Amino acid sequence: MYHNLNFQKMKVSLLQKARMQYQPKLPKGLSGVVKVKEGELTQSVGDQDDIKKLFPNTYGMPIIEFVPGDEKVSRKMNVGVILSGGQAPGGHNVICGIFDAVKSQNPDNKVYGFLMGPGGLVDHNYIELTSDFVDQYRNTGGFDMIGSGRTKLEKEEQFEKGYQILQELGIKALVIIGGDDSNTNACVLAEYYAAKKYGVQVIGCPKTIDGDLKNQQIETSFGFDTATKVYSELIGNIERDANSARKYWHFIKLMGRSASHIALECALQTQPNICLISEEIEAKDMTLNQIVEEIATAVAKRAEDGNNFGVVLVPEGLIEFVPAIGRLIDELNDLLAAHGADYRDLEPEAQRAYILAHLSKENAATFETLPQNVARQISLDRDPHGNVQVSLIETEKLLSDMVADKLEAWKAEGKYNGKFAALHHFFGYEGRCAAPSNFDADYCYALGVSAANLIANDKTGYMAIVQNLSAPAAEWRAGGVPITMMMNMERRNGENKPVIRKALVELDGAPFKKFVEKREEFARKTCFVYPGPIQYWGPTEVADRETRTLALENEARNK
Ligand code: FBP
Repeated sequence: MYHNLNFQKMKVSLLQKARMQYQPKLPKGLSGVVKVKEGELTQSVGDQDDIKKLFPNTYGMPIIEFVPGDEKVSRKMNVGVILSGGQAPGGHNVICGIFDAVKSQNPDNKVYGFLMGPGGLVDHNYIELTSDFVDQYRNTGGFDMIGSGRTKLEKEEQFEKGYQILQELGIKALVIIGGDDSNTNACVLAEYYAAKKYGVQVIGCPKTIDGDLKNQQIETSFGFDTATKVYSELIGNIERDANSARKYWHFIKLMGRSASHIALECALQTQPNICLISEEIEAKDMTLNQIVEEIATAVAKRAEDGNNFGVVLVPEGLIEFVPAIGRLIDELNDLLAAHGADYRDLEPEAQRAYILAHLSKENAATFETLPQNVARQISLDRDPHGNVQVSLIETEKLLSDMVADKLEAWKAEGKYNGKFAALHHFFGYEGRCAAPSNFDADYCYALGVSAANLIANDKTGYMAIVQNLSAPAAEWRAGGVPITMMMNMERRNGENKPVIRKALVELDGAPFKKFVEKREEFARKTCFVYPGPIQYWGPTEVADRETRTLALENEARNK
């Protein structure tokens, strides 16, 4: 069935037109004829016995690197692509890389795009990608070439419906471009098709602005570079405004789900007065009140210097990491999974009463201390992957209200004598569809070419990777890593499930340590930095610079 969705194309801007001419740089290993170099056999990062049992056909495969070869093979292979989950800059370039490499294998090969995420595969909604069509999206942001969605592929019935259309279109391999949850699905699907001997390969690509799909093999997920540069530009603008008007404290919530990578990277780029790191708050077992005291203390100290202004960065997942609230959310997850049907149809007041009646004593007490809107947000339905929808919780407002109350109390006690006026921002959607930076444009194109080579070499259950990303692009190393290698067992929707382990901010990692070195100075003084907008042309040190996180991590890795 041809698609029945009414896709409206956006008008082409002058920047977009000029940018379409940009030819992404490719690593040497992917530039000409490619051959496979196999590395060591792999093990999953945790729960090896369980993962091996669940993935008997795709467990333990070797890591792969592509190196220059001598014999050009021409493969007949139709390929399907899916963009899955939240938008991330560079997704179109992954598709362009796949398209160019698949067509160069054999011009008769076809590439199909499944529409609006994994749901397009199940519902048989697709388009064939042609050269004219693909060309309009080169180096553009967004996922509007084929759309994206969050349908979770987990049921046999969905896999079989997908197989029907793959067979009909003669598709040999499916590339799922997504985050940890979507690549977990890719792995499950690869195993299912391998077990059934359907002859369909499934390959993943590491996407997410959140930066939490990374490990020994994946240095960064694509989109993180561009998104953090956009947010840092905006934060830098706000800092300059704050430093000019000298009358507001700006509370800025940043996307990133559970992990604080985005907030930390933006802090390294812009040097705000305060940046909360959820992982540290959990490790120090801090309460909400302690966090508020810490911020209020910084506000009061700056007020002593006559500086009644500042900038606070708040990672969107913060609330889940305050240990008492985290414990409450864990119990709510199980409760919603078990009682969802009885609970869902109730009125908000009745839902609150229902929850209080079913929670343990300790968690019920925590629930009651939360402002009603926050309590309600954490008790709403989870996304299809079982995540709390943290981007809907107004943590920045919650914190600034509590800081204002604390400062009022200190004023009454004569401990504080400043002015506190707060403004609130939430940056997330502003950066997810930006035109990819040179880094993301190159990285994504190389990931796409890598994925096509994994397919041409009959691999399944692999994620395309590109490494050595702090070096010039020609020296990057491309290949593939078995997805099972990244997996362990975790509790989701009330059950133990195999999932890719999420990378949170490491408190002994180089980026966090660098921030800690400076944060006291940032809090008291005004050390703001204005990084400015992404540059697509110009001096290499400006136009091609990597994130601070990647630079610091690679520096530590290569020591
Ligand atoms: P992915 O994990 O799918 O890459 O999503 C990234 C993200 O932007 C998160 O930072 C954010 O919490 C979430 O998506 C928002 O979801 P939605 O796009 O459904 O509003």
